Amino acid sequence: MFFQQTETKNYEIDMERVPQHIAIIMDGNGRWAKKRFLPRKAGHKAGAETLERIIEDCRDLGVKHLTVYAFSTENWKRSQEEVDAIMDLLRQYLKNYFKRFLKDDIRLNVIGDIHRLDQDIQDSILEIEDLSKDKTGLFVHIALNYGGRDELRRAITKIAAEVEQGNLKAADITEEM
Ligand code: FPP
Repeated sequence: MFFQQTETKNYEIDMERVPQHIAIIMDGNGRWAKKRFLPRKAGHKAGAETLERIIEDCRDLGVKHLTVYAFSTENWKRSQEEVDAIMDLLRQYLKNYFKRFLKDDIRLNVIGDIHRLDQDIQDSILEIEDLSKDKTGLFVHIALNYGGRDELRRAITKIAAEVEQGNLKAADITEEM
């Protein structure tokens, strides 16, 4: 058994039943801030700090994969001020916190279409993905500019290109592909 203590509770965790993969939707940051009469960006900062604790706990508990839905394709519709604040936070995390992954045996993978993100953010993502590619501890997948429909469209476009080039027959397309 592993005992986990938070501000309000003690948890008893059965180490035989730790999940292999946990997925989290970052949500409620705005409501958290509103309740405290703080700007929304303060909620996003608090959400990111909570994510740090979750990552560290997952690593300590031996969880293999953590998927975090951080910024969806829909989230671009928020005010420019809020999108900028989220992107600044992301930039800051890539430059500092995520860089520390390397010494913590954590691997980073970003899912979603990163091409709409600022170039320096894209560069940091690719750099950390590459530097952490041999880490075998916790594998953190962060969904950025991610949408289920967009993911399907991109997969289909890739397969269609293979068919168009004559490398693949439509009848040979499998679920695994
Ligand atoms: C959802 O809360 C949260 C977001 C749309 C943004 C989350 C992204 C970050 C905190 C940026 C940093 C990311 C990492 C991975 C460090 P909400 O605003 O929808 O909350 P609400 O439902 O209460 O309004």
